[in-house]
Amino acid sequence: MTNTPSFTVALGADHGGFRLKNALADWLRAQGHAVRDFGTNSADSVDYPDLAHVTCKSVLSGESNFGVLVCGTGLGMSYAANRHPGIRCAMVNEPTSARLARQHNDANMLSLGGRMIGEEAAFDILATFLATEFEGGRHARRIAKIEPGV
Ligand code: RB5
Repeated sequence: MTNTPSFTVALGADHGGFRLKNALADWLRAQGHAVRDFGTNSADSVDYPDLAHVTCKSVLSGESNFGVLVCGTGLGMSYAANRHPGIRCAMVNEPTSARLARQHNDANMLSLGGRMIGEEAAFDILATFLATEFEGGRHARRIAKIEPGV
């Protein structure tokens, strides 16, 4: 993406998502982005929350600009990630939702289903996500209301 700045992107996956995660790592590097890969790197069964939490910490610390999680469906990873205050993780299957997740929700993480979508769809989703800026304004007010009790 010629108009997309270079970012550091944290990646985390379970056994249902590691193949797509590895494809995304290669794609990101080819696009000029830096990658922090928190695994997993095999089909051996692991627990998706463990990978979600370590990847979220990289985003929350500022070490990474964005994070991408991949499990079988994308669902479990998104549940775990969105328990972290400050993480807004969008579970999406197509680029329009990825664009709106950035424009309206200032999402800082994506969650993808490694068993649900193919590599080309995932590349389109991530390219759209990284190329889209938050619109601010009324959306910032709404984001401030997401945390209960604030
Ligand atoms: C693992 O079998 C699977 O449950 C996991 O990858 C994910 O889809 C959970 O939401």
